[in-house]
Amino acid sequence: MRRVALLGATGSIGRQAIEVVERNPELELCGLASGSTPLERIAAEHGVEHFQVGGDLTELLEAAEPDVVLNAVVGFAGIRATLWALEHGVTLALANKESLVAAGELALRAHERGGGLLLPVDSEHSAVFQCLEGRRRETVESLVLTASGGPFRGRTRDELGAVTVADALAHPTWAMGPKITVDSATLANKGLELLEAHVLFGVPYERIEVVVHPASLVHSLVRFRDGAMLAHVGHPDMTVPISFALTYPERAATEVPQLDLAAGVTLEFSAPDLETFPALALARRAGEAGGTFPCAFNAANEVAVDAFLHAGLPFLAIGETIEAALGAVDGAPAHDLDELLEADADARRAARAALAERGVVLA
Ligand SMILES: NC(=O)c1ccc[n+]([C@@H]2O[C@H](COP(=O)([O-])OP(=O)(O)OC[C@H]3O[C@@H](n4cnc5c(N)ncnc54)[C@H](OP(=O)(O)O)[C@@H]3O)[C@@H](O)[C@H]2O)c1
Repeated sequence: MRRVALLGATGSIGRQAIEVVERNPELELCGLASGSTPLERIAAEHGVEHFQVGGDLTELLEAAEPDVVLNAVVGFAGIRATLWALEHGVTLALANKESLVAAGELALRAHERGGGLLLPVDSEHSAVFQCLEGRRRETVESLVLTASGGPFRGRTRDELGAVTVADALAHPTWAMGPKITVDSATLANKGLELLEAHVLFGVPYERIEVVVHPASLVHSLVRFRDGAMLAHVGHPDMTVPISFALTYPERAATEVPQLDLAAGVTLEFSAPDLETFPALALARRAGEAGGTFPCAFNAANEVAVDAFLHAGLPFLAIGETIEAALGAVDGAPAHDLDELLEADADARRAARAALAERGVVLA
């Protein structure tokens, strides 16, 4: 039996994870967390004693004694849980990319001390992880992250001036929570994934490419020095990476259908439009600058997306807000969690100041 603490149990990843657990007799839920949604019903259905709504999730983790923490919280709020699992050597199945992006070095040091498994749930990183398994580091030429391009792929900046929240939430291939769906529309999600890939796999930024692949069938690729590429291919369904991480290394069966190649599958790839979607280039710059710039990128993006969803910030102003915040912080490295929390708060203040200049105020 593998005891799973599911953080973000009421979200898109959380609900799919519950289905994976329900179908697998070797998995049981031992802890549940959400931000504000009550958990009594899910806890009762699954006989879970430990559950928590909001607050410091490490208290829940201490009580629940999990073998695996599936961190599917959205945003920086997942940071303490990520660091707790890494520090304690408890397997971390990580969907909450924001925490790894923000924590960077701190997370890697905690992982080294804890010595547990860090298994990505993001489909791209799960794909890269699988393509890299058993390969020697020096044989790897580069990583290639694929991006669907989101609902606004192919549009120019002029055409994005008046897009609405509903337009941005209409993702063509993935059904996800609202924050990551907006991030997919701005390509900030691919920016976060670029930063996440650098932390997870230790590959320098100049050897991590991003290509647009609208069908989302190739989840990512790895290029090797002999000219070969390995790709991870299948239907876009988060059940697969969730199940892979929760049952690693067994790779339990799922009900996701096999891709029917003979029915005709066409794979298209192209370069991302960095001018129309500047968030991806801003993330790369933040990563190359290092220190707490990736943390600031994430914080400013969270504030800007919140303002887009709830306070009328225009879509194109999301990237501009991130850029303004990155220009206003010093990006000095964080030596501990307190310093990281400070860097996060600084970037949020800078982003709010940029919003205030436009007359946008967040509740
Ligand atoms: N959805 C996908 O297909 C997908 C794919 C790859 C990666 N991811 C990543 O997975 C994470 C979750 O995404 P999602 O799409 O599942 O988001 P979502 O549907 O918005 O769900 C977010 C979950 O986090 C919980 N939460 C929010 N703040 C919290 C807090 N302070 N403490 C505890 N729980 C909190 C929410 O609880 P409430 O219900 O109470 O708000 C909800 O259960 C994100 O980091 C995202 O980037 C998602």
